[in-house]
Amino acid sequence: MAGGGIGGALGGLIGLACAVLPGPAPIAPVSSVDTSLWSAATLERGRQIAAAGDCAVCHTAPGGQTNAGGFALETPFGTVYSTNLTPDRETGIGTWSYEAFQRAMRKGIARDGSHLYPAFPYTAFAKMSESDMMALYAYLMSQPAVRNSPPRTKLPFPMNQRPLVAGWNWLFHDERAFVPDETRSAQWNRGKYLVDGAGHCGACHTPRNAIGAEKGGFAYLTGGSAEGWDAPSLVGSRAAPVPWTEDTLFDYLRTGFSAEHGVAAGPMGPVVAGLSTLPESDVRAISHYIASLSPRVDPAVSADAAAAHAVRASAAQTLDDEGGRRIFESACAVCHAESGGVGHFGVRPLMGLNTSVALATPDNLLHVLQHGIDRPATAELGYMPGFKDVFDDRQLAELASYIRARYAPGQPAWRDLESASARLRAHAH
Ligand code: HEC
Ligand code: HEC
Ligand code: HEC
Repeated sequence: MAGGGIGGALGGLIGLACAVLPGPAPIAPVSSVDTSLWSAATLERGRQIAAAGDCAVCHTAPGGQTNAGGFALETPFGTVYSTNLTPDRETGIGTWSYEAFQRAMRKGIARDGSHLYPAFPYTAFAKMSESDMMALYAYLMSQPAVRNSPPRTKLPFPMNQRPLVAGWNWLFHDERAFVPDETRSAQWNRGKYLVDGAGHCGACHTPRNAIGAEKGGFAYLTGGSAEGWDAPSLVGSRAAPVPWTEDTLFDYLRTGFSAEHGVAAGPMGPVVAGLSTLPESDVRAISHYIASLSPRVDPAVSADAAAAHAVRASAAQTLDDEGGRRIFESACAVCHAESGGVGHFGVRPLMGLNTSVALATPDNLLHVLQHGIDRPATAELGYMPGFKDVFDDRQLAELASYIRARYAPGQPAWRDLESASARLRAHAH
């Protein structure tokens, strides 16, 4: 990313922010919040929204207490730490009124009036309805208070100037709540509300511009990135070997596995873990809406395509990648062969159906090869061992190159696999 371009653009934003926008006022702390007022139904609704919004995914540090903050988000501008979201009065949001909470969620402004960085997806959360926002507040305020002061975020100049986020908001943030499209069904609108609002799917699946804003229009949900992973396109995906249907999307989003595609790994795992606790109708609505963004696919056609890909991939081929083939046969086939193999707990994703094998970059595949999958999206999926201590970068490069050639024959070979593997080795997962 071009530093000069960012600096120049930010310089302009500083000027803009200072010239036209008065700083927001603090909202007075409240002495106590009466949590006995809320019904069990409201609290359950709030729990669901928190699950759909992955609050605990970002607000919990590895090994730390739920929502106590300190999770480090790597952004192109530096590391941003999440805050303590428990109702602790000193270190959390215990003194936040509902008014302060909803201002943060809709406008990205903290109780003390300072601007929050858009690494916190308030740009999506702003779409939430008033009643969902209230239920979310009720739920969070009813959770145990945890005293914990997470590390402070210190970005380099000029990003350490929080007021300039006002300029960013002015350019990129639409804080209007969701407006249903009357020409569409209730299910479609429900799905769009969850995708664009609490679910913040676009935060990972929509590409961003040079200063970190999601691109609009035709770029919507066409593929972005998250924590060093590619978040594939959800619209007419060319990387998915088999087109997605409403039903396969539902299986994937609900359980973390679709037999026609594979598993949800990396940053998608915790998303599915949250979705799996929502009412089934909500996940149906999300699948219905996502499917509506692509040309309609007949389920029979996608099933045929899946069968054809599995067969094509298993057909004997003569390839140069003899080293990679040997590694695959000895280390992977036991769990990933198209047929046979010894039984094991969990699912059996097929390489020929997997988007990560057909993507433009090898990053997702290399992440999985090195680190395995030690936190399955749902318990039924099983675990995959990591191979970073078993194979060196050269062997992993041979393996990935073989998998690419054999299982994604229509795609160009990946280049510089060895250095890509070395780069990802340094990356925790
Ligand atoms: C993608 C990661 C991510 C997700 C998901 C996320 N947050 Fe955050 N949140 C952050 C970060 C990072 C900050 C701190 C931003 C900053 O320092 O400017 C933050 C800050 C906040 C704040 C301001 C708190 C304070 O003390 O200033 C609130 C309130 C908040 N988040 C609520 C939520 C809720 C509620 C959810 C779930 C619906 C949620 N967040 C989901 C990353 C996330
Ligand atoms: C924190 C980032 C993040 C968020 C938020 C997120 N995703 Fe994902 N998603 C990913 C990544 C990364 C992958 C690739 C996973 C893999 O390779 O196993 C993925 C994969 C997928 C896939 C499979 C695509 C394919 O062709 O294999 C679907 C479908 C999907 N996500 C839908 C959604 C929906 C719907 C939402 C919102 C409810 C969502 N995602 C929110 C990061 C995210
Ligand atoms: C002990 C069984 C086992 C072995 C050995 C194994 N895997 Fe896996 N693999 C799994 C399971 C189970 C999953 C799904 C886990 C989950 O999602 O929780 C998986 C998932 C995957 C995925 C899907 C990742 C995604 O993002 O969609 C790929 C690709 C993969 N394995 C490749 C390999 C390769 C290549 C090897 C050999 C180096 C290998 N596996 C060895 C069990 C295994």
